[in-house]
Parts: sequence; C-alpha cells; structure tokens
Amino acid sequence: MKIVHVVGARPNFMKLAPVARALAKHAGVTQKIVHTGQHYDEAMSESFFRDLGIAEPDLNLEVGSASHAVQTARIMERFEPVVVQERPDWVVVYGDVNSTVAAALVCSKLGTRLCHVEAGLRSGDRTMPEEINRLVTDRLADLLLTPSMDGDDNLLREGVDPSRIQFVGNVMVDTLLHALPAAQASGFRAQLGLDIDGYALVTLHRPSNVDAPERLHRICRALGEIATHMPVVFPMHPRTSSRLTERDRQSLAGVKLLDPTPYHATLDLTSGARVVITDSGGLQEETTALGVPCLTLRDNTERPITVTQGTNQLVLDLSALRDLAVTSRRREKAAPPQGWDGRAGERVASALLNGVGNRG
Ligand code: UD1
Repeated sequence: MKIVHVVGARPNFMKLAPVARALAKHAGVTQKIVHTGQHYDEAMSESFFRDLGIAEPDLNLEVGSASHAVQTARIMERFEPVVVQERPDWVVVYGDVNSTVAAALVCSKLGTRLCHVEAGLRSGDRTMPEEINRLVTDRLADLLLTPSMDGDDNLLREGVDPSRIQFVGNVMVDTLLHALPAAQASGFRAQLGLDIDGYALVTLHRPSNVDAPERLHRICRALGEIATHMPVVFPMHPRTSSRLTERDRQSLAGVKLLDPTPYHATLDLTSGARVVITDSGGLQEETTALGVPCLTLRDNTERPITVTQGTNQLVLDLSALRDLAVTSRRREKAAPPQGWDGRAGERVASALLNGVGNRG
C-alpha cells in the first residue's frame, strides 16, 4: 500500500508525526511525505521536523506565501502531477490549512482516495479561512477521521455517510505525550528565567486578532498590564510581527517577545505556564491535555470539548482579559477527553489499512 501524506503549515507537522510512526510499523506500507512549502522558515518548518523526528519530505512544492487563492492554486498545480505519477492508494491530509483543501481538491478530481485526519471540527464561523477549508475537505474526503465525538455529530448532521466516518481520537496528543519528557528536559523555560506556574505564555496569529489594528492594540495593552503582575512570554508568528506598530510595541515593553519557537521549546513553555493566552487551535487542545488554564481570544471555537471537558475559556470581552489572566490558577488535572490517550496514530493507521471509507 502506498500512502502520500500532504503537509504544509506548522500545525500539520505535529499531526503527521504519530501517523507516520504508526504506519512505519506495518510491512508493506510505503510512505511519501509531500511538503507544500506553505510554511518555509526554519522556525516554522524544519525545526519541527527535527524535534518531531519526522523523515525529510520526499518532495517540497515550494509554494511559499501568497493570497489564499494563489497559494491554493499553486499547490493544486504542483501537486496534481505528483498524484498522477505516484498513484497512491491513499492521500492523507491534516487539519484545516490551505494545503489541506488544495490537496483534497486535486485528489477528488483524480479519483484518488482521500483521508482527512482531524475531520468534523466546526467553528460555525465562515469568516475564518480554516472553516471553509474544513467544510470543503470533509465534503470531498472518502475517510473522515475525527478527534472528538462532536466531530462525528457535525458530520452526521451535514449528511456524511456514516460508513466514511471513524472516531480515532487526537493525534496531536500522541505527539505531546511522546515529546513531553524531551521538551521538559530542553531547559528552554529555565533559560528564560521563568518559574513553573509563574508566568503567562501568549501566542496570537489569527487574522481576526492581528489584522484589525484597533483590536491588536487593545490586546497589546492588556498584555502589557498582565506583565505588571507576572512575566509574560510571547513567541511571535511572522504574520503578527509584521502587523505590530510602534504604539503596539510600546504597550508590549514589559513583555518578553521571542521569534517563533520550535516544538520542544513551545511545549516546555506551555507545560510550565500558569496561564496560556492564545488564538491557536492546537494550544487549546494542548493546554487541555496538560491541565493548564487557557484563555482563547476568539468568539467561537471548533474545539468545544476543550471548554466542556478541558481548561479552555473563550474571552468574548477583551476588557476582562487582564483579570481573567491574573486570577488564573492551575488545578488538579481532569481526565482527558475520550481518545486523547496517545494511541490515535495507531487508530489512523488501522483505519487506512482496513480501508474504511473505500469508494463503492
Ligand atoms: C496558517 C494557517 C492557520 C494556522 C497557521 C499556523 C491557513 C489558511 N492558515 O496561517 O490555520 O493556524 O498557519 O501558523 O492555511 N510567513 C513567514 N514564514 C513562514 C510562513 C509564513 O514569514 O514560514 C508569513 C508570511 O508573511 C505570510 C504570513 O506569515 O504571508 C502568513 O502565512 P500563511 O501561511 O498565509 O498563513 P498563516 O497565518 O501562517
């Protein structure tokens, strides 16, 4: 059986790692990794492959940054000949980024079987580019593997044939559990002089927060105020750094700004934080898995299980952010959601090998 994995952006890499590892245990499975090149900086891409022990991509499509239409179209143009030449039994796509939907469109036109890992998540917010990517990818996929049962409910409500849906649990939690000892041994947090349970970790990159100058400025002011109560560390996505004005930087004067951090460093910072302030999907899940309080600067989430069964809280009113952050406390860790057990990658491998979702 030949499997082609398509990844392109930072959050894809943590999802690929446990699936590739589980498939590698099966004799007779050939795997190829296609990197679209959506993310290309060392800090956004190669460092993740290194930390996660993923094999070098077999092919990099080098599409780089561009508008959504151009980026998606470039991936389609460059990925189509790869599928024609490789003739894989399955193409596996991950998450909700532009690389995911572009590869899905190519496969569906060529009649190549498509498996979507992290299917079924819905924010209900079509102003998010990721929501469009989720809807289209799930419409086209032959095998839809969900990380939480709400994903199954969403897909059934949309009329997806139940035989194509399979609950596998959360592959990102596999990666987290696998990497936690190495991350905590990295010494990254300690080198920054941060004490366990003594600081806030911030990540922000969603257009809804960083592309709106007034909102970004209000967030920066609130972070500056939080920094008068405890250290605040903020590894910054390139989209965010490119949007910061002089006024924003002044508000952040007391905040420790970093370049984007590799996987182990980020996990070390996350696992030691008193509170995480973020708009990332992945961090909402990672904080739930670790039992670290998370304040999400969004009006909605496609990961409601992190609110109902985890540590996540949506911050709908920015004026409440400072108080919510300074009063956050780590609590006893609750039982993780079903299937967030470190074995999701194995269940993905079984689903692919058993051929659930085969075209009739
Ligand atoms: C993408 C994903 C988002 C994911 C995020 C994680 C989509 C629609 N969005 O958003 O879901 O949460 O990745 O990072 O696919 N840039 C660099 N170096 C890089 C990559 C990007 O400098 O290696 C800069 C470029 O200026 C680029 C901007 O960041 O224009 C945005 O990158 P892009 O891939 O378009 O979207 P993200 O905001 O990263």
